[in-house]
Formats: sequence, C-alpha cells, structure tokens
Amino acid sequence: MDRRGLDGLALGAREGLPDALRVLAERHPRPGWEAHPEFNALTRFWLDRHLMFRRLQATLTAETQGVLDRAADPRRAASAISRLARVYLGELEGHHNVEDAHYFPLLRALDPRLVAGFDLLDADHHALHESIDALAARTDAALRGLAAKPADLTPSGALLTELTRFGRLLDRHLVDEEELIVPVILEHRGAGLD
Ligand SMILES: [Fe+2]
Ligand SMILES: [Fe+2]
Repeated sequence: MDRRGLDGLALGAREGLPDALRVLAERHPRPGWEAHPEFNALTRFWLDRHLMFRRLQATLTAETQGVLDRAADPRRAASAISRLARVYLGELEGHHNVEDAHYFPLLRALDPRLVAGFDLLDADHHALHESIDALAARTDAALRGLAAKPADLTPSGALLTELTRFGRLLDRHLVDEEELIVPVILEHRGAGLD
C-alpha cells in the first residue's frame, strides 16, 4: 500500500484499519495479547497509558455534563475541569512525542508490510494535534464563562460538543494504533522494547 492508499483513511473518516494493514492483527487477535510469551512490561505500560487517556476523557466528559445538568457546584467543577484538561492534553502531547521520536521509527523498520500503517498513525497525530488546540480553546472559553457568568451554560455546552468529537477521534486512533503495534511487537519477539 503506497501513500495514495491512505485516501479515505483520515482520522474521522475511517472506521478501522484497512485489510492490507491487518495482516499481523489477524494473526495476533486482541484477546490473546496478554498471554503471549512476547507480551512485555513496556507493552503493558504503553497500553496502560492509553487506558489512562480513556479514563481522563470519561471523567472530563462527566464533569462537563455535571455543569450542564446543574448538578455540580460551578467553582468546584471549573477547578476539576481545568486540572483534568491540563493533565489530559499535556500528557497526550508528550505521549505522541515519544511515539513519533522513539517507538514508531523503531517499529516501522521491523515490518515493511506495515509502513503505510505508521504513515497513518503519523497523520493521526497531526490531526489530533489540531483537535487538541481546538479542545484547549473550548476549555478556556468554558472556564472563563463559568467564572464570569455561571448561569450561562452555552460555553460549557460547546465544550461538551468538542469533547465528544475529540473522544471519538482519539478512540479510533488508540484502537487502530494498538492493533497495528502490539502485533508487531509480538511477531518480532518484543521488538527490542524491553
Ligand atoms: Fe498515537
Ligand atoms: Fe499511543
């Protein structure tokens, strides 16, 4: 698959990996990962980071929904949203940087069948980076709104809409990334990542 093969596979447009990039995923289906002898501590750590992002997304969404339901004290909720968003978006940027600089170049070299997959993940990171900026702007607007006019829920509603959109994009990226990368590690005896 060359780069033109990525047409239609943009984050937000695709519903999973194309068959051409599922060669190893078919051989190493998700339910068998943890029991595989090449499943190592770094892979566990990396999957746990993804789990942490999913939890932060869920908690941030619940806090924002609490504001919209008028079920939360606006000052307490604003402080929680501010803290959660800072950790979520900051850690996510750091995670992408480590993947781009260390993991992807190493793994890309191991399996020529999946080079287009790493191009796909790289394009995802660019798309997510733009979405992180948009989500940070919505978060700031919601926090300013909660401080100045707590009765006006419009900025919090806009934050929930952006969060929902972001959560969908991130989940697609995480699932596809896991299904590309974990099989490479299992196939290539830990990929030297221990
Ligand atoms: Fe990633
Ligand atoms: Fe990741």
